[in-house]
Amino acid sequence: MSNEPYGDRGNKDWSVGNAKGQGSIMPKASGKTHPAPGGPFLIGDSMTAGYGNGPDILHDCTIAVDRGEIAVIVGPNGAGKSTGMKAVFGMLDMRKGHVRLDGEDITGLSPQDRVAKGMGFVPQTSNIFTSMTVEENLEMGAFIRRDDFRDTMAQVYDLFPILKEKRNQAAGELSGGQRQQVAVGRALMTQPKVLMLDEPTAGVSPIVMDELFDRIIEVARTGIPILMVEQNARQALEIADKGYVLVQGANAFTGTGKELLADPEVRKSFLGG
Ligand SMILES: Nc1ncnc2c1ncn2[C@@H]1O[C@H](COP(=O)(O)OP(=O)(O)OP(=O)(O)O)[C@@H](O)[C@H]1O
Ligand SMILES: [Mg+2]
Repeated sequence: MSNEPYGDRGNKDWSVGNAKGQGSIMPKASGKTHPAPGGPFLIGDSMTAGYGNGPDILHDCTIAVDRGEIAVIVGPNGAGKSTGMKAVFGMLDMRKGHVRLDGEDITGLSPQDRVAKGMGFVPQTSNIFTSMTVEENLEMGAFIRRDDFRDTMAQVYDLFPILKEKRNQAAGELSGGQRQQVAVGRALMTQPKVLMLDEPTAGVSPIVMDELFDRIIEVARTGIPILMVEQNARQALEIADKGYVLVQGANAFTGTGKELLADPEVRKSFLGG
């Protein structure tokens, strides 16, 4: 990866709103898509959203990832990081803004339809079926596929050899790090074009965190862009081509991982100095 992974696209470009959607309530799951060429591979653009009839949680928030990149979202607890991911995956009503995937406006699609379009999502919680075996979890991941998915399962086992060893064990019996591997493996079973991970290293030791990051980098190198939320902000920004600091549902700082790590304000407020 180059030092300037997104070269000529400055921060200003990512946050430019799409005026068309402003002020209207976005219909959920209308099933319609619209061509919208250009821009990053996956972008939640100027998203304003909340839960049900509740208040706005996201305020004009933009997160994106481009081909060949790892993009990382960091920020304090309750900042709206998971809400941003859920909005991009179509799990809440967007009040303003758009989600575009590979040049197509998918704001109106259901999560299932987004999976069919190539999005893989590993949520922060309840991301595996604990009473099922490891292998059954991976099979569940392949639910939308009608073709032979054994090759993909073999690839997942190559990436996470421990899962092959434990393939007949209930996933709930695995360690935290191994469960996260199951969750990521399950998402990979759909052969996604982009992978979204919400805190893939939550609750694991620093050594396991390093290992998981290595595997995530490996996945990215196979050509799957990764948009992930991370609590281990410093370590995550070290591997990030692009980083977003969210505060109270809004973009506070955006830049390359390096830029954010070097920014005195980001360091002081979010990286412990
Ligand atoms: N299902 C929900 N219904 C209503 N409000 C919610 C729901 N989930 C989250 N919220 C609210 O949305 C805000 C943002 O929460 P969110 O989970 O997105 O934060 P986060 O940045 O992911 O935090 P954390 O670092 O703890 O995972 C919080 O005020 C939270 O209470
Ligand atoms: Mg969260």
